[in-house]
Amino acid sequence: MVKAAKGALLATLEIDRNSGAPIYRQIEEFLRRMILNGALPPGQKLPSTRELALELGVSRITIKSVYEQLISEGYVQGKTGAGTFVSEGLDGETPVVPSLDAGKKDYLDGNFSQTAEHISFSKASARYGSILPFRPGVPALDEFPIKRWNKYLSRAMTKSDITNFSYGDLLGSKKLRSSIAHHLADSRGMKIDPKQILITSGAQQAFVLISYILMNKNDTIWYENPGHIAGRDLMKIVGGDVSPIPIDNEGLNLPIAISNFPKPKLIFSTPSHQQPLGITMSLQRRLALLKYAHENASWVIEDDYDSEFRYRGRPLPALAALDNVGRVLYVGTFSKSLFPSVRIGYVVVPEILMDAFAKMRNIFGQTSSAITEEALSNFMDDGGFAEHIRKMRRLYRDRRDILLNALQENCSNILIPQQTDAGMHILADIKNGISDRLAHLEILKSGIDSLPLSIYYEGPAERQALVLGFSGVQKKVIPQLVRKMGAALNSLNTNK
Ligand SMILES: Cc1ncc(COP(=O)(O)O)c(C=O)c1O
Repeated sequence: MVKAAKGALLATLEIDRNSGAPIYRQIEEFLRRMILNGALPPGQKLPSTRELALELGVSRITIKSVYEQLISEGYVQGKTGAGTFVSEGLDGETPVVPSLDAGKKDYLDGNFSQTAEHISFSKASARYGSILPFRPGVPALDEFPIKRWNKYLSRAMTKSDITNFSYGDLLGSKKLRSSIAHHLADSRGMKIDPKQILITSGAQQAFVLISYILMNKNDTIWYENPGHIAGRDLMKIVGGDVSPIPIDNEGLNLPIAISNFPKPKLIFSTPSHQQPLGITMSLQRRLALLKYAHENASWVIEDDYDSEFRYRGRPLPALAALDNVGRVLYVGTFSKSLFPSVRIGYVVVPEILMDAFAKMRNIFGQTSSAITEEALSNFMDDGGFAEHIRKMRRLYRDRRDILLNALQENCSNILIPQQTDAGMHILADIKNGISDRLAHLEILKSGIDSLPLSIYYEGPAERQALVLGFSGVQKKVIPQLVRKMGAALNSLNTNK
């Protein structure tokens, strides 16, 4: 029998009757925090409502309402006759953002900076590195040509290339910048000088550099909504006034942005495959966005994170390829085309900004390794990279088709999957008013991942949907996983 948590747990729970915060809220917040930080692990039994009420000197009804709230949020589960238990499969996930009051108390006690306070409200997942099935953004890691890659890596580490053991070039390897310039000319229609390319440790480091170099506190940022969480949180932390710009069927809704928000210093966009909705920005919208940026001296970030994966038709050239004034900062990453831990990305910067970027990269700790840069450059120049992309494109297209079929067969009563011609995930809208966070937590208990669409929104979500990554899941296991997912989701349906 699982022993109920008490003793140490209860000893640290202090109710502040003068704080003005309702007692039930204080207890709820306390338990949420204990679950999220692992002090109450998955499967842990909670004290009975009677016990906890006695211990804390509050009514049993208060504790009952606390438990009911936590059950509805997915943190705990009630088992008839056995008690209340911490849900399985939470391991550090952040399913619900802590409320402002509770967060503030911890972070403003004088120990932490105000930046840390902002970070406490981030919805970026603590389970960032999950590779459980259907986690979005995970490439087919087991299909990566490791043997071939290792050859390039070990060659980059030989004695004759001893310079790779040092800090390397301030802008990142010259050779790699040239390989990337060729790749961008071939695949994205961009004619650029390698001198405009700066190597980063991924797209996120590029966003960090851009934010610190081009943004002042309180500058307006237009940011796609829903949109990439880590980029948005970063810009808030740096002090930007981040305005949520809705998405229509042409991409970032420029007319709404112009009529509702002040002129922006920066505009964050994902034109080739909107993250997470998957919309491709129309040519008209691209041209209008560039015209607006030129006329209003705004910088446009083009995050081209997964543009390699298009399954029908030819991709539109990058927004940066249409920009002849130099207002677009094009950001690319190898996290999706190779694997995330390679930690290499890049930003294409107008030449006048290069010096500032190079110095800032140095101040922020350089981060990408000259050895990996050299290996990647050789992998690209020998055709290994293009070959891998071609192979993955075929593989991902098959995986997408199998996932769509399996969802149609097993989950059509509860999910409405969206067709997609690009990227590494699909959206599946949830029927019957079930919240996507709850659905996400429910399937996680069976070892199946996803992300709730609502966490990508600033403010209330317009849709409740699961974001299901297909690229990292082997074909043969997709149908059985989807059957499990269907059973889990249907249990929510019947418990409603
Ligand atoms: C929209 C978007 N941009 C960029 C990235 C990649 O970030 P990084 O290159 O730092 O791994 C991700 C990762 O999930 C993403 O979703």
